[in-house]
Amino acid sequence: MKTIIEPFKIKMVEPIKLTTASERETILRRAHFNVFQIPAEGVIIDLLTDSGTAAMSSEQWVGMLRGEESYAGARSWYRFEEVLRDLTGMPHILPTQQGRASERILFELLGGPGKVIPSNNHFDTTRANIEHSGAKAVDLVIDEGTQPQSRHPFKGNLDLAKLENLIAEFGPARIPVCMITVTNNSGGGQPVSLANLHEVSDLCRRHGIPLFLDACRFAENAYLIKQREAGQGQRSASAIAQEMFSLADGATISAKKDGLVNIGGVLLMRDDALAERANGLLILTEGFITYGGLAGRDLEAMAQGFIEVLDEHYLEYRLRSVAYLGEHLRSGGVQIVEPPSGHAIYIDAAAFCPHIPQEKFPGQAVVCGLYRQAGIRAVEIGSVMFGAGQPETGEVSRPPMELVRLAIPRRVYTQSHIDYVVEATLDLFRRRHELRGLRIVSAPPQLRHFTARFEEV
Ligand code: F0G
Repeated sequence: MKTIIEPFKIKMVEPIKLTTASERETILRRAHFNVFQIPAEGVIIDLLTDSGTAAMSSEQWVGMLRGEESYAGARSWYRFEEVLRDLTGMPHILPTQQGRASERILFELLGGPGKVIPSNNHFDTTRANIEHSGAKAVDLVIDEGTQPQSRHPFKGNLDLAKLENLIAEFGPARIPVCMITVTNNSGGGQPVSLANLHEVSDLCRRHGIPLFLDACRFAENAYLIKQREAGQGQRSASAIAQEMFSLADGATISAKKDGLVNIGGVLLMRDDALAERANGLLILTEGFITYGGLAGRDLEAMAQGFIEVLDEHYLEYRLRSVAYLGEHLRSGGVQIVEPPSGHAIYIDAAAFCPHIPQEKFPGQAVVCGLYRQAGIRAVEIGSVMFGAGQPETGEVSRPPMELVRLAIPRRVYTQSHIDYVVEATLDLFRRRHELRGLRIVSAPPQLRHFTARFEEV
């Protein structure tokens, strides 16, 4: 069959409130043109994030009821540990509340002033945790990774030559860990190849630098390797994922993505001495080492989620449905970050509305346009999120790309929901000259995109 279907039936539904254009206008103005400030009830299709927004399966809900809530050594902990050990082969498995809790513990131990921590691209919370420790976060993605129109199959790859230069410049002693984000969220959800992971792992090993994966979307990355990398097509996604983990000395995972749960995370490592110190920090702020701030039922749901996410019918449907959105937008003339990859489609907002200059936030204009048009909530990844004024010099820094991310929650929306998004986006594209730029009225100094207030100009 050519038609790839959602490989599940829907047995519990949540109604979507359908708003009118005039209701949305009121809601948008009340939110000061910032979609983070819109109550979720006022959203028809919510593509703000794929994090913590998955629909759980009936088996995961069974696990929620089976959850065993003993403080230490709960049955649910042993089930979780067994699944994670089988998947990752890591001897030390620490449950955490979410990805950034794992990052906080890792960088409190490995970071610190004078240290330099490379990655293909650090995600914002990773970067923030590294900088919070006093260390410097450096992005070393291959050049194709910052070119929206490049169709390189593995635009998430880390540039070996750049890593060698960094090691030569700072010396291995100042580089306590090298990270690789799979898939590369900040770089358009692009995958990292197995060959690149091997090369980076070898280089790090030669210099005695541990390699850690930021493995939130490991299953999507594994399936993209299966689809795109020579010689990998016949292997199972599980076997590829296991090989990915085998090349690393540890990993941070936000289970809110490929763990298919609404809350939860994992910190993994091989080094016994490091794990002992990590356990100490886990107990200090999260919880005992067999629950890490989660309930036994959360551990059950995660264990089951990590099994289900490697189902190849699921992964085929998942990546196909994201590509479907990308292909329809592209054929309607909308420029996207190519090629469509993991969890989201990224619209090139600078190309979408060339009449709006960077300082008037073209991405935010598209985000507001999509909400007005059809109640779709997307997120700006451009000058609102990353641009910042430097008060000392009066200079304003701008990111290289002005993007709008349409992140697809897992197992939540059907093909007709995606068709609705395509229709709305293409309608908006036809009327793009009507989009207006914005001005920031007020914003906090950090993480301004969550609470900034705008006005149209
Ligand atoms: N690493 C990556 C690559 C991520 O995408 C995220 C979260 C985190 C770490 C942090 O995990 O939220 O569980 O603490 N990304 C979400 C997003 C928020 O919308 O892309 P967390």
